[in-house]
This record gives sequence, C-alpha cells and structure tokens, in this order.
Amino acid sequence: MTDLLLGQVLHFTADPFGIGPDAAALDEAVVIEAGRIVAVGAADALRRSNPQARVTDYGQALISAGFVDAHAHYPQTAIIASWGKRLIDWLNTYTFPEEMRFSNLSYASEVANRYLDLTLSNGTTSVCSYCTIHPESVDAFFTAAAARNQRVWAGKTCMDRNAPDGLRDTARTAHDDSARLLTKWHGRSRASYVITPRFAPTSTEAQLEALGALWAANPGCLMQTHLSEQTDEIAWVRQLFPSARDYLDTYERHGLLGRGALYGHAIWLEDREKARILQADASLIHCPTSNTFIGSGLFDMGGLKAAGHRIGLATDTGGGSSFSMLRTMASAYEVAQLKGRALHPAELWWLATVGSARALHADHLIGNITVGAEADLVVVNLCSTPAIAQATQRARDIWQAVFPTIMMGDDRAIRATWVAGRCVQDNDPTTGALRKNAAMGTAASD
Ligand code: GUN
Ligand code: ZN
Repeated sequence: MTDLLLGQVLHFTADPFGIGPDAAALDEAVVIEAGRIVAVGAADALRRSNPQARVTDYGQALISAGFVDAHAHYPQTAIIASWGKRLIDWLNTYTFPEEMRFSNLSYASEVANRYLDLTLSNGTTSVCSYCTIHPESVDAFFTAAAARNQRVWAGKTCMDRNAPDGLRDTARTAHDDSARLLTKWHGRSRASYVITPRFAPTSTEAQLEALGALWAANPGCLMQTHLSEQTDEIAWVRQLFPSARDYLDTYERHGLLGRGALYGHAIWLEDREKARILQADASLIHCPTSNTFIGSGLFDMGGLKAAGHRIGLATDTGGGSSFSMLRTMASAYEVAQLKGRALHPAELWWLATVGSARALHADHLIGNITVGAEADLVVVNLCSTPAIAQATQRARDIWQAVFPTIMMGDDRAIRATWVAGRCVQDNDPTTGALRKNAAMGTAASD
C-alpha cells in the first residue's frame, strides 16, 4: 500500500539555530511506502507519479515528523502534577512509592500502555524513557511499544543507595539485569536499550563503575542519567563524592561520559563540565516544564546551542507537567525568554523533532521528513481552538501561523499521528471521531 498525504509538509534542511528559519522548507505532499518516506514534493507531481496511492488530504494542516521526547519516566504517568515539592522531597514523597508498584508486571503493562496512548495522542511518536529498577518494568514498556511498532529507547533505572527498601538493586544486580535486558531488547524491531543509572546520589561508586564497564562493552547503546538539576542536589553530590571535581566528574571518572551519553536537565553546569561535555559530544536534554514545575532553574539554551552542544527537548514526565511536546516547546520559549533569548518557532519545532532525534543519534532514522526516513508523522491542526484560530488568522507567514499552536496548543491540535507508515490516531473533525485511538490494531487505515 502506498499512501499520499497532502497538507503543509514541514521539513528541515539545516539547523535553524545556525542559519535561521530558512533552515525549514514547506512542501505539499509526502508519499509513504512500507513504513518509510519515499517522496516529498509538489502535490500534482506526486499524484501523477503515484496514481495507485491512497490519498489523505489534510488540507491546511501541518504535516511534520512526529515529536521525539528525549527524556521521560513512563512509570511516573500517574503521579504527574503532584503538588508542592522540590526535587529530593518530590522523589521521596511521590516518585519512589509509585515506582515501587512496578515490580508487578500487570501494573507496569497497564501504565506503559496508557503512557504510550497519551503520548501518541499528543503527536509524540518516539520517547526515551526511564523504567524502574524492576526488569518487569522494562519488559512491559518494550512490549507495549512493540505492539505499536514505535521506535523507543528505555532502560532499567539503577539505584543502590538513598532509595527505600524494595527500590534498590546492587552494583552486581544492576549490571547483570541491565546486561540481560540489553541482550533481550536492544535492536529488536524498533527498540533500543539505554544504560540507566538514575543519578549520582542513588548510585554507589561501585555501581557507577559497573555500569561504566557495561557501557564500554556495549558502545552502541546510549547511556542516560540526570545532571545538575537543582542546587540542593548538587550540594548533596558534593558531600557524597568529596573527591569529585564537580557533578559531571562523578560520571566521568567511572566511564559514564562520552558520545551517546544523555544528561537530563544540565542547568547549573560549571565551565569545566560544559567544556568536557562538548569535547565528548555528549547530549544535553532540556526539560523545561519540569524545571519550572519542580523549581529547578533556567536552562541556558541560547548559550549552550551557540557553543555547539548537542541538545534535545523533553517532557520529563512526571516531573514535567505535561505529556505534550507543544506545551514543552511553549515552556522552552518562556524559559529562554527569562534568559534573554527569544527562540524562533522554527528553533522550537526543530528541537522537538530533529534536535531530539540528533541527541539520541537517530536523526538518520526519525525526526525529519526526508526520503528514506521512517514514516513517523504528526498532522497538526493550526486552528484547533477558537483562541488559536483567531490569532492564526492574522498570520502572514507559516511561522506566525504555527506560533499560536506552539504557545496555546495541546492534544486537541493533533489531527493525526502516523507510526511506521500507519495512521494510529485519527481525530477527524468531519466524522466526529475525535480522540479515537487506533493504536492497538484498530487503525482507521491499514
Ligand atoms: N533526578 C533523579 N531522578 C529524577 C526523576 O525521576 N525526575 C527528575 N526530574 N529528576 C530526577
Ligand atoms: Zn528525569
């Protein structure tokens, strides 16, 4: 089956942080075959060259690569928007008790399925998620993602100290369980395993060393953790690792710095840390709704991008307060404004698609509409609410038309979501099939 989608097809030819909005291009049509994009171009020409194709006309809607959420905790789905705590109290009060429940495979499966449906209904086609310390939580997540044929990254979260009974492993079991799960899931269909020490305060040096050795033995995997999120946390790391030069050094000295490392938050970086991260070509993942919600601080997008850092964008569900990458772009805009830099809508959209894919070293596969890429797409209605529609009507160019949706849009703006060339969400306003979730094999189109 060949699909021909018509709409305003947005794709990037370069990084807009380098050359501005000219880095983006608009076309009229995209052709999909066997789960991949096979052509992008003018509607008439592609209709003529693909007479057999099934045509879906999305009118003036924007057709983009699906959003890529580069840092999330699917086990925190049910505790999103929990009130009143800062990082360490928030972990102890809300997060750890909830994560304890994931020793139960059926509970883990229920939440993994719910989480992936929520993200798909927000136009997010790929995520990089933490699981819990329980291998069951990893199996549940990858199984749920495979049922939807999604490209995902995830790993068992490792913690062997400063976590409650029932939520600690050891250096040995963290290594051996991670190694077993990696062998089971990495490269299986669209799954990638990520070695996942939670953060320095919850791992002993022995555990960090063991996971550094596992990464050295499996350099094709990514490694994810948290770095310099909150000032109280950084002071605690200084106490726990008195001989470390800084927070990054707690990872670096155990082989947990390198290309393929993903550091969530990275707000309060020292100059040495920035220089080493840049030199190693490691990725920084910006989680703006989390940083404001938990009261962590303001990420320096302007400065870090200008210095050449590899940066992705993420919700950090459930420290973040939304499943939506539109809401996340809005928050990134607001955080950057507070740092004195107005991010262009092209920069925001690039971060949520190409930027996150690049941070995950997967921009040759996902994150952009290019010939040969996997057909993970989101179709966005740029007039999804009366408030957005009345602002968009004044737009004189595409970015003025997109920006009200970035700032005020949510899942109501998601007209459709396509995964691997298949429409898995179809919110067709003409049939009233709003919020129809076709992810689990009841797709409107096959
Ligand atoms: N640092 C260590 N664990 C977490 C977590 O689950 N969420 C956030 N936001 N920060 C963390
Ligand atoms: Zn996190």
